[in-house]
Amino acid sequence: MNDSIRFILNGEDIALADVGPTETLLDFLRLKRRLTGTKEGCAEGDCGACTVLVGRLADGKLTYESVNACIRFIGSLHATHVVTVEHLAGRDGALHPVQQALVDCHGSQCGFCTPGFVMSLYGLWLTKENPGRREIEKALQGNLCRCTGYEPIVKAAEQVSL
Ligand code: FES
Repeated sequence: MNDSIRFILNGEDIALADVGPTETLLDFLRLKRRLTGTKEGCAEGDCGACTVLVGRLADGKLTYESVNACIRFIGSLHATHVVTVEHLAGRDGALHPVQQALVDCHGSQCGFCTPGFVMSLYGLWLTKENPGRREIEKALQGNLCRCTGYEPIVKAAEQVSL
């Protein structure tokens, strides 16, 4: 157990031994944990469909960043908190305000990219109160959408009320 990689996945303590050096977080989530809300698009860090949050404790503060799970190796996750889109809904199944805003503003069409956008926006709202348009655009710069155009998504981000 001493050589294992330990982290928290959503609310679950994970300990993994014998992790391959190129085993990705995306494959772990989708293939081993069946958390298929995290999508595989390009599989090379370009599209953002696989976006999750990784939290790390520094100076007594847990700080989250959005990462591309397809190019994040499991071995780099020791002592982190990994958050996937499955973690956002309330216990009663209610959508998170970020998700609800995307619904209200028609920010999703085919939906394949939507979990990635949700996680990028969730990460923004965890770290920034009342972000401006420029901060929203910066938070979404790693997410590609080929259906809606970006305006409804940015509008949703501006209308989230937590
Ligand atoms: Fe495209 Fe990960 S699947 S960035």
